[in-house]
Amino acid sequence: MRITTPGAVLLDWRPEDAPSLARHGDSPGIAATMRDGFPVPYTLEDAHAFIGAATGPGGHLYLAIELDGEAVGGIGVRPLGDVYCRTAEIGYWLSASCRGRGIATDAVRALVPVAFRRFEILRLQAGVFSNNPASMRVLEKAGFVREAVHERAIWKNGQVLDEVLYVRFAPGAGP
Ligand SMILES: CC(C)(COP(=O)(O)OP(=O)(O)OC[C@H]1O[C@@H](n2cnc3c(N)ncnc32)[C@H](O)[C@@H]1OP(=O)(O)O)[C@@H](O)C(=O)NCCC(=O)NCCS
Repeated sequence: MRITTPGAVLLDWRPEDAPSLARHGDSPGIAATMRDGFPVPYTLEDAHAFIGAATGPGGHLYLAIELDGEAVGGIGVRPLGDVYCRTAEIGYWLSASCRGRGIATDAVRALVPVAFRRFEILRLQAGVFSNNPASMRVLEKAGFVREAVHERAIWKNGQVLDEVLYVRFAPGAGP
């Protein structure tokens, strides 16, 4: 898959992206905003393992955010299971060197319609840690609404945080 956005290109991860993934992903600041599966330090082995999983089976859609031919971030959609199977989560990160240019917002805006077409979902949601206003702003600019605050739901780096849940509903989805 290849999606051109105003600021970047979203495309399937390739094994040759591993060095740039390890370079741009290796950031305590990024890891602090993500679930614990996002490693710090981010080694080349971690990058190869991620790309293998991202491009293998699993019912998800994980894409690299590419700028000037280099993978500088990632964005993905993962449907939940069990009774939550009509909901998917969206997540993303971008190298600190490329921020503040609308790249993440463009990526989210571009992936939302793709997610609703590709998966049989009614909801696309993102759980943002309460100390991450930049990500909340990205979601608001991309048309997500702040639905709930899960108080003290997050334990990250020895700190208790709230989780702020943002959602977009499938077009035409009613009660
Ligand atoms: C969140 C992230 C993807 C944003 O990437 P980006 O390309 O810089 O985002 P955009 O430029 O599209 O938009 C960022 C918005 O946040 C705003 N912002 C940035 N820092 C902010 C802060 N500390 N407080 C409030 N708003 C902030 C920017 O001003 C901008 O809003 P604006 O267009 O109204 O001015 C990037 O910061 C990142 O990768 N962070 C670490 C990983 C992460 O947080 N992932 C999401 C986990 S839920």
